[in-house]
Amino acid sequence: MKPGDPQAVRVMFEQIASSYDILNDLLSLGLHRIWKRQALTWLKPQPGQCLLDLCCGTGDLSFLLAEKIRPNGSVLGLDTAAAPLKAGEKRAFKQQWLRLRWKQGDAIATGLSHASIDGAVMAYGLRNLIDPVGGLWELRRVLKPGSRAVILDFNSQPIGYGAYFQQFYLRTLVVPVAEYFGLKEHYSYVEGSLNRFPVAFHQEEIAYKVGFTLARYFPLAGGQMGILRLQA
Ligand SMILES: C[S@@+](CC[C@H](N)C(=O)[O-])C[C@H]1O[C@@H](n2cnc3c(N)ncnc32)[C@H](O)[C@@H]1O
Repeated sequence: MKPGDPQAVRVMFEQIASSYDILNDLLSLGLHRIWKRQALTWLKPQPGQCLLDLCCGTGDLSFLLAEKIRPNGSVLGLDTAAAPLKAGEKRAFKQQWLRLRWKQGDAIATGLSHASIDGAVMAYGLRNLIDPVGGLWELRRVLKPGSRAVILDFNSQPIGYGAYFQQFYLRTLVVPVAEYFGLKEHYSYVEGSLNRFPVAFHQEEIAYKVGFTLARYFPLAGGQMGILRLQA
């Protein structure tokens, strides 16, 4: 599959949706839950805020945020694929006290009003967009001035021991485990998507170019993952 091809990416995530959460837990040994919580420390969500979870998938971050902005804030989870959104809605049905909304749409053209959002997150999404610069531009556009956003993803490492370990992890753990679930092709895609993903300092550069006033990249998990902290 061609990384970044919007139609192919959407179809892939429609197909993965039913196994996505279990594979996430297996392949990260549950650590993705810690990384997601770490990402939120920058956002400092407050009751009453209107927050956005871009590329929300089944809504892990949407749910964490929704707990924080109670009782009168709201969280919008936006994703291009219908199946993960449906899974999120199903989860939300059991937690009706949370103010969550779901929208099928493109993170590059959300259709949301300019400067209408108090804070935003995007976990493992930016890498999948046809144009990560366009994704950051759209994120900046919808945020209120001074508000914060955070992006969590694999840390793109073209060379060195980190790159070697990442390749080893993806080829000898991720792809074989995914193959067991019948999703070999889908998870082989991760390595290709990383090859076209801007490295840490380049992500900071792009963020400044699209108008963020602050952009800092922090490696996580021994440099295998990374968090881009942003302020509009
Ligand atoms: C790897 S999953 C991450 C899901 C969730 N954020 C998490 O961390 O568990 C990537 C998600 O991005 C969504 N996605 C990919 N391209 C997108 C786009 N252009 N606009 C919105 N969502 C997109 C996919 O459908 C998928 O649900």
